[in-house]
Amino acid sequence: MGLGQLLIGAALSAGSVMAASVSCAMPLSCHNISAVADTCRFNYPGGQLLQTQFWDTNPSTGPNNSWTIHGLWPDNCDGTYEQNCDNSRAYTNITAILQEQDPCILEYMQVYWKDYTGNDESFWEHEFGKHGTCISTLEPRCYPNYQPTQEVGDYFRRAVTLFQTLPSYDWLAAAGILPSSTTTYTLAAIQDALTSHFGHNVIINCNKNGELDELWYQYNVRGSVQSGLFVPVDPVGAPSTCPQTGIKYLPKYSTPTSTTTTKSATSTSTSTTRPTIPAGVLSGKAYIYVDTPSTTSPGFLISKGAWYRGGGTPATYTATPNADGTTFSLNSSKGKCAVLSDSSFSCDTSITAGSSFAYDGSHLTFEGSSTFYATEVPTGQAQGTVFTSPQAISLQVYWNPLS
Ligand SMILES: *[C@@H]1O[C@H](CO)[C@@H](O)[C@H](O)[C@H]1NC(C)=O
Ligand SMILES: *[C@@H]1O[C@H](CO)[C@@H](O)[C@H](O)[C@H]1NC(C)=O
Ligand SMILES: *[C@@H]1O[C@H](CO)[C@@H](O)[C@H](O)[C@H]1NC(C)=O
Ligand SMILES: *[C@@H]1O[C@H](CO)[C@@H](O)[C@H](O)[C@H]1NC(C)=O
Repeated sequence: MGLGQLLIGAALSAGSVMAASVSCAMPLSCHNISAVADTCRFNYPGGQLLQTQFWDTNPSTGPNNSWTIHGLWPDNCDGTYEQNCDNSRAYTNITAILQEQDPCILEYMQVYWKDYTGNDESFWEHEFGKHGTCISTLEPRCYPNYQPTQEVGDYFRRAVTLFQTLPSYDWLAAAGILPSSTTTYTLAAIQDALTSHFGHNVIINCNKNGELDELWYQYNVRGSVQSGLFVPVDPVGAPSTCPQTGIKYLPKYSTPTSTTTTKSATSTSTSTTRPTIPAGVLSGKAYIYVDTPSTTSPGFLISKGAWYRGGGTPATYTATPNADGTTFSLNSSKGKCAVLSDSSFSCDTSITAGSSFAYDGSHLTFEGSSTFYATEVPTGQAQGTVFTSPQAISLQVYWNPLS
């Protein structure tokens, strides 16, 4: 990428000694020893670029064997940073822009750049508006024939291509650091595993329960964010927030967690079991997970009502109490949900009268039974139909509310 261009640039400038007015070889950001005027090819003041990644488990996002993208942030060389630098470029149509400029990057983002509330567009808007507008080399003045939003593709493309060189899940796995609901890890082991690949220290962050949830990889850049060379460096600024020992690296999806914080100055209780909901009428939004003895990674229901185990984000279902006081209706983004005449469970705009469901204190029920069926356990990207009439595989489904 930028390296070839940079080397050609360096060779040209060496060969044309007198062309002092054109300086092709830019200093590495945060390493200049004199002022650099051309901040279209020198990132300033945000010369420390961070590629930040999430490990979301509550709720889970993205594939179960990959971290997801948080963003690409221009920090100053001392750990401070600017934010929201140009509100006139706080675009509210990132998806539409990328659909035009780089549909392949968009498609990748739809899998690997996930918002934990399910609103990827607004997350992308936030990242570009807060951080992207502070990258000097992406400013409109840096484009010869600037077309509005032109820099958006460059920002997301660079964030994605950097992320693709940072396979944190695989790096940790190669050191035996795998998601687990029981094993814990030390900060030193995680740092060693990542540093041995990245070449520099990485910021390793945990939530308040000591669960690993974020990584920050830091770079200086020779040239622009668009085409420059990203050079791994040690962090500047805030240290890692994980404890030295006892770090949890929870599996995604397989053990959805519910964290209950007791609002009291003295007691904070957390639980990592599935939520306890009394039998009765459900209401509000939730993910629906599958329970089955047929597999240890049962997956969840997607928006049309199908069973899916291929990673990604479960669909958000809404339960609405029925007038009978004992049952509720379900819908998803696809529309109302019903058990159709062939006994398949489906959610679709074409469904005008949804079916009535109940909840027995651990699973959803239909006409008194919590047992549902499938013809087989779906594998890969396959979507399995869920039936209420007996088939080869038995399963149950449970409700994991979104707070
Ligand atoms: C590096 O370049 C920036 C931008 O021109 C300038 O403000 C800063 O003073 C320079 N740093 C040094 C040490 O000269
Ligand atoms: C996105 O919005 C900007 C204005 O904020 C507009 O200039 C641009 O044409 C829009 N792009 C698309 C693809 O809708
Ligand atoms: C991820 O999900 C796939 C498909 O459900 C499963 O085969 C695999 O074992 C899971 N991997 C992990 C690490 O949980
Ligand atoms: C689902 O149901 C809720 C509550 O009745 C409603 O507000 C929402 O618009 C419905 N969504 C769809 C996609 O039908």
